[in-house]
Amino acid sequence: MFDIPRSYSQLDQWNSVMFLYDSALKEISTKIDILNQEFVHIYGHTPIEHIKSRLKTPESIVKKLKRDGHEVTIENMVEKLSDIAGIRIICSFNQDIYQIADMIASHKDVTVLYVKDYIKQPKPNGYKSYHMVVTIPIYLTEGPVDTKVEIQIRTVAMDFWASLEHKIYYKFEGNAPAFLQAELKACADMVDMLDAKMFSLNQSILAEGDALDKKQRE
Ligand code: GTP
Ligand code: MG
Repeated sequence: MFDIPRSYSQLDQWNSVMFLYDSALKEISTKIDILNQEFVHIYGHTPIEHIKSRLKTPESIVKKLKRDGHEVTIENMVEKLSDIAGIRIICSFNQDIYQIADMIASHKDVTVLYVKDYIKQPKPNGYKSYHMVVTIPIYLTEGPVDTKVEIQIRTVAMDFWASLEHKIYYKFEGNAPAFLQAELKACADMVDMLDAKMFSLNQSILAEGDALDKKQRE
C-alpha cells in the first residue's frame, strides 16, 4: 500500500509504519468526536457511549501473520493486515450504528475498502458488530499515504457479549465446552431482545417528551 524507503533500517521502517497507523487513528478519532458533538445539535443526544482505539502490538502482528501463513515482513504486515490501527465505537442503539457508519464513509478523504455487517448476518456463535475497513490519507512531507483503519461499531449490549465471548474463547483456546457455546448463543439472542426493547423504550420516551413540550406550549 505504501512504499517504505529501502535504505531505511528495519527499525526505522517499523517506526515509520507505526507512525502512520498512529496518525490514522488520531485522524479517525477526531472525525468521530466531531460527529458525536454534531449529533447532539441535530438529534438531541450523543449516540456514542465511548470509543476505544488501539494499535496492534508487535506480538499480535507476528502471531496473525504466522496464523495466516505469511512470512513476517513489514511489507506483509502493511499488505495483509487490516487491523493494525483499530477503533471500536460503542453506541446506544442499533440505528445509531448505521448512521455513524454512513457519516464516516461520506467523508471525502475516507475510502471504504470493505464492510462486514455481522449485525445483518451475525456469526454462527452469535457475534454481532458492524465492521468497516477504511483508508485515510496521512499527509507526510513527501506526499499523502493511504493508511488502513479497522472500525468496529456495536451497541453496549453487543460489546458486553463480545467481551465475555472473547474471554471464554481465549480461556479454552477456541474449544469451549458445548454448553458454554450454547449459553453464549442464548445470551446473544437476549442481546437482540434487549437492544430492540431499549430502542422502543427510547422512542416512547422521546414521544412522551414531545407530547409534554406541546402541552406546555399550549
Ligand atoms: P481476524 O479474525 O482478525 O483475522 O479478521 P477477519 O478477517 O476474520 O475479520 P473479522 O471482521 O471477522 O474480524 C475482525 C475482528 O472482529 C477480530 O479481530 C475481533 O476483534 C472481532 N471479532 C470477529 N469475530 C469475533 C467473534 O466471534 N467474537 C469476538 N469476541 N470478536 C470477534
Ligand atoms: Mg476472524
